[in-house]
Amino acid sequence: MSNQNRSFTVAVVGATGAVGETMLSILAERDFPVGKLIALASERSAGGTVDYKGQKIAVQDLATFDPAGVDIALFSAGGGVSKEYAPKFAAAGAVVIDNSSAFRYDDDVPLVVSEVNPEQVQNRPRGIIANPNCSTMQMLVALAPIHRKVGIERINVATYQSVSGGGRSALEELGKQTGQLLNFQEIDPQRFPVQIAFNLIPQIDEFLDNGFTKEEMKLVWETRKILGDDSIQVNPTAVRVPVFYGHSEAVNIETKTKITPEEARTLLENAPGVEVVDDRAPGGYPTPVTHASGTDPVYVGRIRDDFSHPRGLNMWIVSDNIRKGAALNAVQVAELVAKNG
Ligand code: A2P
Repeated sequence: MSNQNRSFTVAVVGATGAVGETMLSILAERDFPVGKLIALASERSAGGTVDYKGQKIAVQDLATFDPAGVDIALFSAGGGVSKEYAPKFAAAGAVVIDNSSAFRYDDDVPLVVSEVNPEQVQNRPRGIIANPNCSTMQMLVALAPIHRKVGIERINVATYQSVSGGGRSALEELGKQTGQLLNFQEIDPQRFPVQIAFNLIPQIDEFLDNGFTKEEMKLVWETRKILGDDSIQVNPTAVRVPVFYGHSEAVNIETKTKITPEEARTLLENAPGVEVVDDRAPGGYPTPVTHASGTDPVYVGRIRDDFSHPRGLNMWIVSDNIRKGAALNAVQVAELVAKNG
């Protein structure tokens, strides 16, 4: 049956959070065919409201909500909440699009970047589709076209990740610490292990036995799963930086056959979701503040040869982690679900 004129009952789980709030505005901006919108959060937010298309929508308590009748559920309330509630929504008939890492590595849950492997949305035996981690998302929007053309053997990546990836409490901590330090006051780090204002932290998520952090290993596991190629080597370092919105990545790739910066630029200029900003002049490159924050594209600049390797290429990839890195991709996946039934 065609879904051309259908409208959907859409639930946003975590609607009061940094990503959930953006999901609501992107559903509205893109005119997703919402018949009924349901905003869910924890008990502490129940009774409050969120904005959707200029209307105030009552926030309901997820714990007592009956998911019967929900067509599409966008989850962004953390892994624990997803693990407990996503299967219940799926069992009640909803397609769950989950922004947490709870199901990303399960074989029977597709991990979808809308520009890279959209066909995978159909492969959802459990009724759950996972949204990749923000850093993997923007990296693969830019690298997938190159991988398809010349094959990528190895990726070296250092990320510069904004605090919004840590949710509202992380945004507040950067703001508060910045104010305190500028006023010569003591700070008391809560959300981050050490001072984040005017500092960099080379740890995101927990440490694993191999010395990498979980955030770093997400780049390895998710790249292989999304590109469907376990032979790709990924060497990541993930760093939290005192930027509010927008992740940046210094990326070096080694390809199977040589691709020149000019060829890569042309390929990326025609790639969906990518905008090349590469002027080789002061300011002629994307930054989180000047380009990414509040916008949809994955920006690529600083495309240049790696003169230390015969098949190496360097680039700088920047995107709004809350939009393409989370909420926008989730809504794009919902659009694919809506289109395909
Ligand atoms: P609440 O505002 O009621 O705490 P962020 O990542 O910006 O911190 O947002 C997390 C989102 O997940 C918020 O909407 C938050 O709701 C929601 N959330 C957190 N814990 C739960 C829970 N146990 N049940 C439902 N929603 C939750």
